[in-house]
Amino acid sequence: MGLLRSYILSTLITVVLCQKIMSVPSSKKYEPTWDSLDTRPMPVWYDDAKIGIFVHWGVFSVPSFGSEWFWHSWKVRNMTEYTQFMERYRATSSYQEFAGDFSAEFFDPKSWAELFKSAGAQYVILTSKHHDGYTLWPSKYSYSWNSVDVGPHRDIVGELSAAVKAENITFGLYHSLYEWFNPMYLDDKASKFAKDNYVVRKVLPELTELVETYQPYILWSDGDWEASEDYWESRKFLAWLYNDSPVKDKVVVNDRWGINITCQHGDFFTCQDRFNPGVLQRHKWENAMTIDRKSFGYRRNAKLEDYLTTHELISTMVETVSCGGNILINIGPSKDGTINHIYQERLFDLGKWLSVNGEAIYGTRPWAHQNDTASNTWYTTRANVIYALTLKWPTNNHLRIAAPVSIFESISTIQLLGQKQKLNVKLEWTSDEKVLVVEFPNKAVVATDWVYVIKIVT
Ligand SMILES: *[C@@H]1O[C@H](CO)[C@@H](O)[C@H](O)[C@H]1NC(C)=O
Ligand SMILES: *[C@@H]1O[C@H](CO)[C@@H](O)[C@H](O)[C@H]1NC(C)=O
Ligand SMILES: *[C@@H]1O[C@H](CO)[C@@H](O)[C@H](O)[C@H]1NC(C)=O
Ligand SMILES: *[C@@H]1O[C@H](CO)[C@@H](O)[C@H](O)[C@H]1NC(C)=O
Repeated sequence: MGLLRSYILSTLITVVLCQKIMSVPSSKKYEPTWDSLDTRPMPVWYDDAKIGIFVHWGVFSVPSFGSEWFWHSWKVRNMTEYTQFMERYRATSSYQEFAGDFSAEFFDPKSWAELFKSAGAQYVILTSKHHDGYTLWPSKYSYSWNSVDVGPHRDIVGELSAAVKAENITFGLYHSLYEWFNPMYLDDKASKFAKDNYVVRKVLPELTELVETYQPYILWSDGDWEASEDYWESRKFLAWLYNDSPVKDKVVVNDRWGINITCQHGDFFTCQDRFNPGVLQRHKWENAMTIDRKSFGYRRNAKLEDYLTTHELISTMVETVSCGGNILINIGPSKDGTINHIYQERLFDLGKWLSVNGEAIYGTRPWAHQNDTASNTWYTTRANVIYALTLKWPTNNHLRIAAPVSIFESISTIQLLGQKQKLNVKLEWTSDEKVLVVEFPNKAVVATDWVYVIKIVT
C-alpha cells in the first residue's frame, strides 16, 4: 500500500469514526414521566416529510359497510341499518366469520407502494390492529385472530413494510390499545381498571413484538380514551421506545396514550380525527383525514360526492402545512386488496401537482403569516423564499394579497411555479391596507391546476 493511499485511508477511517461518534445520540435516558419524555427533540425527518398515506384495512373491509366501526355499530349500538345489512348479507352470523372472506387475492404490496410513491407520500401508516383486535401480522398474542391464521394467510404488515421501504418511503404503524370485545379488556374495565391483565398480557407484549419485528418509524396509537395513561403504562412504554428500542433515534409517536393526553403530549398531536385548526399551532401536529369524508375503512356504497375532490384534497393539504401540520391522507383498500379508482385518481392528481409545486410543501416551515382570507391564499416559507399558495384562480388574472409585512417591498424575483417568466407585481394602498397585486399569466399556459403557487424570493 502506497503512502498516499494509506494516508487517505487513515483519513477516511478518522472521518468515518468521527461521523460515527458524532452521530451517536446523547446518552440521555428518558424517564417515564412527561417532564422527561417531552424534552426529546422530535426527529426532524417527520417535520420535513409533510405528507403521509394512512391505510385502514382489515376484517371490517369485508362487510365494507358503514365504517371500520362496523362490529361496534352493529353489536354495541345495535343500529338498525346494521341489523338490516346483516339480514341481507346472510353469509355470516358473527363478525369473526367475515375474516374468512378477507381474501386479499389481488394484494400486491409493490403496486401499493408505487401508487403511494406517485402520490408524493413520504410515509405510509398501516392499521396493524384496529379496535376489533384482528392483527395484520402473525402475532403470538393474537392466536387465530390474525392475517396468517385466518383470511389472507399472509403477513400483511411484513409484506407492505418491505415494499414501502424499497420505495424509500418511511413505514409506520397504527395500533389500537383497546379491543371492543376482548374479554381480558372487558374484565379490566369492569374492575374500573384496577386490574391490568389486558395491558400486561396483551398490549405491552404485542406492542413490543410489533416494534422489534417491523421497526416502524411512526407508532400511531389509538383506542386509548376509556382508560388513563397509568392503566396503559404509556409512559413506561414510551421510555423504552425512546431509550432502548431498535427505532429509538428515528421513531415518532402521536398523542393518543390515555385520557387527557391527546393534544398534550407526544411527538406530534392529532387531537381529533380530521384536525385542521386553520391557525398556527405551537406544537407539531398532524391532520389525519380521509378521502372518503365519512369513513376510514372502504365503503362499497359510498357515493361519488362522499369523496373529496382533488381541489379539496390539495386545499386541505395546503392549509394544514401552512399552519405547521403534516397531512395523513387515508384510503381504505377493498377486501380483495384492490384500491378503488377514485382513491387512485386523487393520489395520482396529488402527485402530479406536487411534481411541479412540491418545493412549496416538502421541508418548508410556517411563515410569519398563515393566510389571507380575501384572496384564499396560504403561505409557507424556507430560507429567503416565501410561497403564496392560492386556492383559486384570481379574478381578472390579478391576485390581490394583503401585504402584511415590509418583506413584500424587497422582492427580488416572483414567479408562478412551473412557469419560467417573472410576474409583474405592484404595491397598492387601499384605505389603510397595503396590497400586493400580482399579475397572473393567461391561464392556458399554466402547468398545473387546482392550486397556484407564487414563489417570492426576497
Ligand atoms: C336491537 O334493536 C332491536 C330493534 O330496535 C331490538 O328489537 C333488539 O332487542 C335490540 N337488541 C339489543 C341486544 O339491544
Ligand atoms: C432508494 O434510495 C437509495 C439510496 O439513496 C437508492 O440507491 C435507490 O435507488 C432508491 N430507490 C428508489 C426506488 O428510489
Ligand atoms: C382528566 O382531566 C379532568 C379535568 O382536569 C380530571 O377531572 C380527570 O380526573 C382527568 N382524568 C384522568 C384519568 O387523568
Ligand atoms: C386564516 O384562516 C382562518 C381559518 O379559516 C381564519 O379564522 C383566519 O381569520 C384567517 N386569517 C386571515 C389573516 O385571513
